[in-house]
Amino acid sequence: GSSAYELHRNDSFSKLSLEDIDYFKKILGEKSVIQDEDVLSTANVDWMRKYKGSSQLLLKPRNTNEVSKILKYCNSRYLAVVPQGGNTGLVGGSVPVFDEVIVSTSSMNNIIGFDNVSGILVCEAGCILEKLDSFLAEKGFMMPLDLGAKGSCQIGGNVSTNAGGLRFVRYGSLRGNVLGLEVVLPNGTIVDMLGTLRKDNTGYDLKQLFIGSEGSLGIITKVSILTPLRLSSINLAFLACNDYLSCQKLLLEAKTKLGEVLSAFEFLDCESMELVLSYLDGVRNPLPPSNFYVLIETTGSNESHDKEKLESFFLHSMERGILSDGVMAQDMNQASSFWQIREGIAEALMKAGAVYKYDLSLPIENLYKIVEEMRKRLGESAKVLGYGHLGDGNLHLNISTPVYDDTVFELIEPFVYEWTSKHRGSISAEHGLGLMKANEIHYSKSSEAVHLMASIKGLFDPNGIMNPYKFLPRSLLSQHKE
Ligand code: FAD
Ligand code: MLT
Ligand code: ZN
Repeated sequence: GSSAYELHRNDSFSKLSLEDIDYFKKILGEKSVIQDEDVLSTANVDWMRKYKGSSQLLLKPRNTNEVSKILKYCNSRYLAVVPQGGNTGLVGGSVPVFDEVIVSTSSMNNIIGFDNVSGILVCEAGCILEKLDSFLAEKGFMMPLDLGAKGSCQIGGNVSTNAGGLRFVRYGSLRGNVLGLEVVLPNGTIVDMLGTLRKDNTGYDLKQLFIGSEGSLGIITKVSILTPLRLSSINLAFLACNDYLSCQKLLLEAKTKLGEVLSAFEFLDCESMELVLSYLDGVRNPLPPSNFYVLIETTGSNESHDKEKLESFFLHSMERGILSDGVMAQDMNQASSFWQIREGIAEALMKAGAVYKYDLSLPIENLYKIVEEMRKRLGESAKVLGYGHLGDGNLHLNISTPVYDDTVFELIEPFVYEWTSKHRGSISAEHGLGLMKANEIHYSKSSEAVHLMASIKGLFDPNGIMNPYKFLPRSLLSQHKE
């Protein structure tokens, strides 16, 4: 962090009083009103340990009605609120900036229903992604999204960030898979949009406003989501390419040859591999050192047919010189050890010290250029890593230094945003804006669009209590008090 995050508490928000605490205890019961310092110190800091707030209060409602009572009260008292799910967000959105009341969905984790013909799951927002996936596994289905944080992130947080992840290339965005939501507005109104229909063209699709809204409009309390069948034949290849151009060719080849069974196309560069090998225990590179690595997963229903397809794709790509090396996972253990390399990068970065994290959408031919340019800019002062969801045109550009350093930061920003904007990319492909990029939205959206967003925010949250200082430029966020 650095100068970009220096901001002041909006003193038109009230400060928490003893009466407020008493009121919350009355409506929620003692146990759901948490002032314990250890619990609060965890909830005040984000997963990267980069963003820290100083909230004195964490509330754990057990149902929608309790959420409604909380928000209604906070709104009337001008108490600022930060919704929190699994607190795995990577842009500082899930923790307070100052003394905002933390409203956690962790105690709202019931599965409400599952239809095993349509594959539609309805559950509460606090359900953990991995638990939902295990529940579905027993029914022969799976969640349409998967990410490294699956053991802690919650479906409400996933929807609020419109999380992408490792299966996006196959199953697409939550904007398509989420069929309905129940939300609570800042004034306490419960809005039931919990549809379970694939098709429904009746009026504005309001749930879309909440998908990716990062807690700026209200709290998502229930989710209805379309889940695909869990197919039995999964194959994984760990491949090596000499240069980025070969990775691009490999992607086209994979789309052509693997088409309907392709379920992941991920890449990492050698700097990412080196960092994982140095910081994570028990991880080894299954291939000789190489410039780029690509993970290709196929998912289908015919084991011998799928394997054959992947093998012939592999041989063909070797013959054409696109691939320099590669191995197919022989069993589940080997497959998970391959995934561990890719999914472990974020953790390795965190262990390595300070990290400047960028999550960019870029046209595929230019996607790796920014990594190379950044390396030239920073020289020996930092490690520059490129990895991500290549199949979706999503680069994770990460800069690792032993400690946070303003001179490094000033070489990175605004350069990285200007470069992305110039190449018609997005400054946030999947992580969202949060606190980190609230003031940077104009690099990816027109001024007219940003103003319209601010009007929508004002309509839903006229007092500005929901996740203040984040998501939209601070200059546009309304000051509520007379
Ligand atoms: P939190 O972090 O708690 O919150 C995220 C945001 O949503 C905050 O602004 C919060 O205020 C808001 N929010 C949370 N719950 C609600 C709710 N019920 N109603 C309203 N607002 C709410 N992201 C990807 O897109 N793809 C990846 O591949 C990916 N991999 C990751 C891997 C690791 C190891 C980690 C740590 C993170 C990764 N992420 C990834 C980041 C991603 O945004 C989150 O992991 C996840 O979607 C957030 O869920 P959460 O429950 O932790 O939400
Ligand atoms: C990933 O794809 O690994 C996640 O988005 C986390 C990260 O960007 O580090
Ligand atoms: Zn990602």
